[in-house]
Amino acid sequence: MIPFFDLSRQHQLLGQELTGPVSQILLSGSCVLGPEVQALEFEIAKACGTRHAFGVSNGTDALVLALTACGIGPGDEVVTTPFTFLSTASAISRVGAVPVFADIDPDSLNLDVKAAEAVCGRRAKAILPVHLFGLPCDLGAFSELAKSKSVRLIEDMAQAFGASWKGNPVGSWGDIGCISFYPTKVIGAAGDAGAVVASDLEIASHLQRLRVHGTGADGLHRDVGGNFRIDSVQAAVLRAKLPHLHEWLETRRRHSLAYLNGLAGTDFVLPSDADGRVWSHFCLRHPQRDDVRQYLLSKEISTAVYYSVPLHLQPCFADLGYRSGDFPVAEAASREILALPLFPELLDEERDQVIEALLEFDRGST
Ligand SMILES: Cc1ncc(COP(=O)(O)O)c(C=O)c1O
Repeated sequence: MIPFFDLSRQHQLLGQELTGPVSQILLSGSCVLGPEVQALEFEIAKACGTRHAFGVSNGTDALVLALTACGIGPGDEVVTTPFTFLSTASAISRVGAVPVFADIDPDSLNLDVKAAEAVCGRRAKAILPVHLFGLPCDLGAFSELAKSKSVRLIEDMAQAFGASWKGNPVGSWGDIGCISFYPTKVIGAAGDAGAVVASDLEIASHLQRLRVHGTGADGLHRDVGGNFRIDSVQAAVLRAKLPHLHEWLETRRRHSLAYLNGLAGTDFVLPSDADGRVWSHFCLRHPQRDDVRQYLLSKEISTAVYYSVPLHLQPCFADLGYRSGDFPVAEAASREILALPLFPELLDEERDQVIEALLEFDRGST
């Protein structure tokens, strides 16, 4: 079986380089936060071009923390995309605010700036775009929009660590960038982990306090925060992997370009190799997506579907009152998107088998 993703290959290749620092942390007795986390935060801030970074428990908590640090709560609205992982919108609900969805752009599959502008009303306090599948949003346009509406810009960069827009890293454009280090991400921990990045000192201090129950330097709790801390072991894992990020992103791109070249001229709608993107996923589109998936499975090739039900139609958001047909572009993407195997340790032969199977499907269906 050709796996969709296989972290064991990466961990086996890293071997001692990974297990050495982890053992050291275990033997040191450091468990939560500590010097290893501080060192990681320095490296994350550098990579994201921000003044501050804070390691947190996971990408979902990063979003909750970011929204809370921006003072967003009951009565507020946050404009976001319906075509993303649940967390982007559930974090908004968790702080008591209302997610307001706008449709996506049919080419990039990212939140459409004009559509976002149209629903960014009086109650809106933030815009929360997602750099989906590693492709940066038009951050210039979103920054302008946020400024013109006097709202915060929070970047969900869970899938786009290492990406940049117009030469500047994602995460450095908004007020806060929210990162996931879930094991399947371009750089993944050995469990749950995440981070928030920001440059404004006041926002950064707020994030830092909220991460540990709103505790100030004087020991008093002026805000009700939470336990959003990251473990020292996860920091050690991430620090062991960070030096490989560039090479891994290059290999992901090499595989993606091979997919693009191999599938050119077929009925598959292919993603673009845009400047500054990272290839966290390789997602193509086909009107018979489920048949394609079944065909690949019959050839022992695993794939994944993102996101078969867009967020405005998820039962947990039923009380928001959206209906099928409200966001036709997102709904079509939900029916058509298929993600192919893509990770740095994918073998060239495996990738070529995927291409061959897709070409067979294309020949048979045309
Ligand atoms: C776009 C997006 N936002 C947020 C998250 C949440 O991250 P985590 O799983 O680390 O909580 C994910 C994770 O898949 C994601 O893809």
